[in-house]
Amino acid sequence: MSSLPTHRDVFRLTNDPNPTPTSPRLRFTTEPLPSTLPATSVLIKLHAISLNYRDANITFGKNPWPVRPDLIPCNDAAGTIIATGLSVTRFAVGDRVAPNTDMRNLTGREKERSWLAADEDGVCASYLVLDERVLAHLPSHLSFVEASVLPCAGVTAWSALKGVGIGNTILIQGTGGVAMLAIKLALATGCRVILSSSSDEKIAGVREKFGDEIVGVNYKSLPEWHEEVLRLTDGAGVDCVVEVGGTASIVRSLKCTRRGGFVSVVGYLSKDDGLEEMKELLPLLIDRRINLRGINAGSVQDLSDLCAAVTATQMRFDDIIDSARPFEEAEEAIRYVWEGNQVGKVVLTMECRGSDHMA
Ligand SMILES: NC(=O)c1ccc[n+]([C@@H]2O[C@H](COP(=O)([O-])OP(=O)(O)OC[C@H]3O[C@@H](n4cnc5c(N)ncnc54)[C@H](OP(=O)(O)O)[C@@H]3O)[C@@H](O)[C@H]2O)c1
Repeated sequence: MSSLPTHRDVFRLTNDPNPTPTSPRLRFTTEPLPSTLPATSVLIKLHAISLNYRDANITFGKNPWPVRPDLIPCNDAAGTIIATGLSVTRFAVGDRVAPNTDMRNLTGREKERSWLAADEDGVCASYLVLDERVLAHLPSHLSFVEASVLPCAGVTAWSALKGVGIGNTILIQGTGGVAMLAIKLALATGCRVILSSSSDEKIAGVREKFGDEIVGVNYKSLPEWHEEVLRLTDGAGVDCVVEVGGTASIVRSLKCTRRGGFVSVVGYLSKDDGLEEMKELLPLLIDRRINLRGINAGSVQDLSDLCAAVTATQMRFDDIIDSARPFEEAEEAIRYVWEGNQVGKVVLTMECRGSDHMA
């Protein structure tokens, strides 16, 4: 491995017990890479790391699930394999790959989960050493910046839309990363999209980008937005909701889903707002025969299936990139996401970095 890197640059959590409320708890450091790869592992040079709301939650110390101390944040990344262990069979040097977010979820049937950036080190690094089983081949027509949105935001949207088909109506909440991916997948599937957002400007921007057949509903100026969704579906309700609001929106989401439809519960952005309304949840669930489906990203198989679908449709994602910034600006980029400034994905790139830490 003489021409291979000996070290990598990483951002790790500081675990500061009294963090500044306006700054993510991150420290930049350099760490050695193993001189010999484990037999079934590969060495990946990362080109792009895409940020999620979860990364902001974790680095600001607000994640609702436990996070191992001192770990590397972030879970969405795309890179190239630059070395393989002796027993690697599915991948070769030069392959473009992404790791799945859940390291244990290979097929969807595993008993345990182990998430990047919570249970084990994440991807905010210049190089990764990972077992080949957790990787998927990326579509060759995508740039690394585009491809980096697939493992978490992409797989989450893919899982949330499973079972929808041509002619279905989907309610997609918000204009964040998961929502943008869901809009693209829903439109490619031949679905009608109703988009709810707190901002008329954001709705107008999405319609301009993806087509004015998308119908917008402002959930902020129209607190009874579910009634508008019912009106737009002749009183029947939508076939599926991609739910990111949590307690403040889930009961209304059930009210505007058709009998027998799906509510895919992806997010919890409203924290504890709307808890009082939650007592309506069970009667609604039963009365409307709703399939309430918890989404936890997906399996390596889901990531591979999504990549195959993206390749088949030649779907591009350059239109959902809010901005790309150098890797070194991770703190500023995460703060930008924490403040909710983005429409779509914010991506860290390694484009300007040379061959660093070579032997
Ligand atoms: N379960 C999983 O596997 C999984 C995977 C990825 C993400 N998530 C979760 O899904 C959620 C969205 O993630 P993301 O990465 O897409 O976030 P993001 O990029 O930060 O976008 C969030 C967007 O959601 C909208 N929003 C905020 N509060 C809302 C509310 N109370 N009701 C409805 N919409 C609201 C906002 O859109 P407008 O400004 O347009 O209103 C906001 O821009 C987060 O809670 C995240 O933790 C879960």
